[in-house]
Amino acid sequence: MAKRVVLAYSGGLDTSVAVRWLIEEEDAEVICVAVDVGQSAESSGEDWEEIRNRALAAGAVEATVIDARAEMAEDYCIPAIAANARYEGKYPLVSALSRPVIVKHLVAEARRHGAQAVAHGCTGKGNDQVRFEVGTRALAPDLEVIAPARVWGMTREESIEYAAKWDIPIGQTKAKIYSIDENLWGRAIECGAIEDPWATAPDEPYTLTRVTATGPDEIVISFEAGVPVSVDGRQMSPADLIDEVGRRAGATGFGRIDMVENRRVGIKSREVYECPGALAIIAAHADLEDLCLERDLHHEKARLEPRWAELVYDGMWFSPLKNSIDAFMAESQKYVTGDVRLRFDAPGLMRIEGRRSPVALYDHGLATYDASDTFRHQDAEGFVRLWGLGVATWASKQGGQA
Ligand code: ARG
Repeated sequence: MAKRVVLAYSGGLDTSVAVRWLIEEEDAEVICVAVDVGQSAESSGEDWEEIRNRALAAGAVEATVIDARAEMAEDYCIPAIAANARYEGKYPLVSALSRPVIVKHLVAEARRHGAQAVAHGCTGKGNDQVRFEVGTRALAPDLEVIAPARVWGMTREESIEYAAKWDIPIGQTKAKIYSIDENLWGRAIECGAIEDPWATAPDEPYTLTRVTATGPDEIVISFEAGVPVSVDGRQMSPADLIDEVGRRAGATGFGRIDMVENRRVGIKSREVYECPGALAIIAAHADLEDLCLERDLHHEKARLEPRWAELVYDGMWFSPLKNSIDAFMAESQKYVTGDVRLRFDAPGLMRIEGRRSPVALYDHGLATYDASDTFRHQDAEGFVRLWGLGVATWASKQGGQA
């Protein structure tokens, strides 16, 4: 009996060639699964029916398209917002967040079809292979994971020849300069001139952050217990909200990142991103936390945030430490409720202009210097004396700094 393999299919050259390669080299029956994680049709031009047909034409026995846009928003972007997640302080984990969504569906389809293996189109140099494989092992340690592109050793030209030889439709395969991965949370762009870290990043691959707005834009994002729920008072689903904020922020040119990052496999890589929605929402969320989180909780959370981002970047979405930090993050969000007002000025400038919350820990009576002051000034003297008692003793007995 032929081995059944469920392949994470994108419709691109590599995964199309992988279908035939799995049939030839692994004697496999290939089931293609394409997961819609919110790649916007406008910018990436995804046509899901066309992708499905291409998978079948490449030799798949079955091809399924799964709509996971809402799931991506609710179960992946919302926790990333709670954790203000930015890898190495910058990158909001666009690709890293989508891989566990795809893995979950791959494993479910593998179970449904009684498959023995899953496969993906990643090469050996990137993070995505790590996320696909570690994620799959976490959910289904019994499944084999096959990475054809890591094994076949074909150049791009050879892959195109392979496709021609097997009559695999590959769409327009003009020399593709950039490797682009896109989802609801933004776009990741690699290769081409970007590989020279000194060179100015080319403008051409950007699609979400082209300035089309004529004036400044002000957006009020409202949160309930850490979850963004409305824009300018209009309630919307997380997916629609991310989309709306992304489109408006992007139209003012906000949301580009140019960075050199540390991949899990030990390679430093220069990459550019455009994540207008993600960066705006995280900035708003973090600002609201300034208003609503108690000091010790806030400081401890700030220490855990980079760890959360690192775990997700490193493919540990499904792992005990990540689960435990998630529980902390969830608890911390109980009172992150209120509104944040953002102003965008083209090209690319964003400022937070105001924030308010019914459960703010900001107390005007305590903070003010005017007559409505409620602070007990007499308490300060003793507090400060005890706060400095240790150093005062050190100074008098041991000479202190002298
Ligand atoms: N460097 C980013 C990451 O590791 C983006 C990867 C993008 N993937 C791609 N196939 N272009 O998350």
